[in-house]
Amino acid sequence: MNFNITTTPLEEIKADLELIVVVDNDLKHPTVQDKKLLKRAGFSAGQDEVCMLVEKRRLYAGSQSLQPNHIRRAVASAVRTLIGKKGYKHLKMASYAEDAATLRAMVEGVVLGSYTFTKYKSTKQRSPLKKVDIALDGYSAGALDIETAITAVHLGEITAASTNFTRDIVNTTPDDCYPEVMANIASELAEENGLKCTILKPKALKKEKMHTLLAVARASRHKPRVIHLAHKPKNPKAVVTLVGKGLTYDSGGLSLKPADFMVTMKSDKSGGSAVLGIMKAVSEMNLPIEVHGFVGAVENMIGGDAYKPDDVLKAKNGKTIEVRNTDAEGRLVLADTLCYAQQEVKADYLFDFATLTGACVVGVGHYTSGVMGYNDDIKSFIRKEAEASGELVTPLDFNDYLKKTLKSEIADICNISNTRYGGAITAGQFLGEFIDEAHKKKWAHIDIAGPAFVEHAWGENPHGASGAGVRMMVRLLESLAKEEADS
Ligand code: BES
Ligand code: ZN
Ligand code: ZN
Repeated sequence: MNFNITTTPLEEIKADLELIVVVDNDLKHPTVQDKKLLKRAGFSAGQDEVCMLVEKRRLYAGSQSLQPNHIRRAVASAVRTLIGKKGYKHLKMASYAEDAATLRAMVEGVVLGSYTFTKYKSTKQRSPLKKVDIALDGYSAGALDIETAITAVHLGEITAASTNFTRDIVNTTPDDCYPEVMANIASELAEENGLKCTILKPKALKKEKMHTLLAVARASRHKPRVIHLAHKPKNPKAVVTLVGKGLTYDSGGLSLKPADFMVTMKSDKSGGSAVLGIMKAVSEMNLPIEVHGFVGAVENMIGGDAYKPDDVLKAKNGKTIEVRNTDAEGRLVLADTLCYAQQEVKADYLFDFATLTGACVVGVGHYTSGVMGYNDDIKSFIRKEAEASGELVTPLDFNDYLKKTLKSEIADICNISNTRYGGAITAGQFLGEFIDEAHKKKWAHIDIAGPAFVEHAWGENPHGASGAGVRMMVRLLESLAKEEADS
């Protein structure tokens, strides 16, 4: 997609189609030239409502306000209606931007809304859009200078393209995307974007004593990998470590999932895929932050060699874990990957992303991620940055009572709690046992099980992977870069 910021008045730009956003149901606004036609078509300009006037070559979209989160959704909903249609290569629109954030959200809306995943379709229906002209002289004329606008467009493009990159990995089926393939994707990205890349294969994983990760991987014909990507600018303003759950398939293992719950478990690699997408964005923005991305890439399968309920495993940090359910595998993979990440990098911030629990989805719904940890400021920081990026995050607080439910009679800890309630929190508290003292107040765990995979399109997300985690973290890292620069 080619974005072009221009000071040419909108009406002088020749394009196949004009996108007009109707803000706050204001059909009387001077930019709305087709009031009567729209009314006849039953268009009331509600949030995400779209109306195409083919003859007029105008596409109308409703947005509750000029707030970036409303605009992003409105634009994404509008451009999504063009998928599979021909003759709309060139789109024009006013900038609508009172500030750079709104313009950036518009660009993100175009790129996120144009996303399609067609790998397995014989007839591929894609977005026809190739070129988008954005006229600064339109709706909020003069509000933005061209330099600021160009930067906003650039950052929006990177953020949304990285989200789509993550969506592609997650949407790929388990037999086309297994740990070795994830590692190859990471090393190709490293090559293209100048990142440092280290891949640990089983021999190295044994040497590193990552026995819980290896146990989960044992029954699969696809051998595990741990991926480490690093973006290392000179004089970094902060060091951030990201860790992602990369279960390329989660059958549940011997504690096998019921058939209905197994479908969509290709999405259990969403955390790891988000880490790869974030590394892509960080390197393309060349942020002055040192960022390390670790992914534990494993397939959880059944077989004669499978790890079992009743096994006791020893994690990399020496703690013993009684396995009571092989479907609580993500925390086992993350335990070792977190230990490895902390051994390799002493970070100022340590974040992990995982589709860790169904309980998180039950607790907070499909649209929201849960954030956990020992530091309230970090949890609030993540929530704030996520909200600004168009993602939803809510804190889930730890407590001592729930912690006790992980107690084991024969090992240091159980991999599941003895109560069926509070499962997202107990999973987070389990991970907390693998965070060393130096990182305790620097760590946050983000359970993206709800929003990572979309079964019914919502917001800027079509069916399938959403790329959850990418936008919130890119935004947070950008803020860290600015904050440290100011101080
Ligand atoms: N990958 C699942 C969690 C999940 C469920 C993600 C639904 C996305 C949608 C995880 O490995 C799992 O199976 N967790 C179990 C934990 C239980 C055995 C304590 C769960 O949530 O049921
Ligand atoms: Zn599982
Ligand atoms: Zn899982």
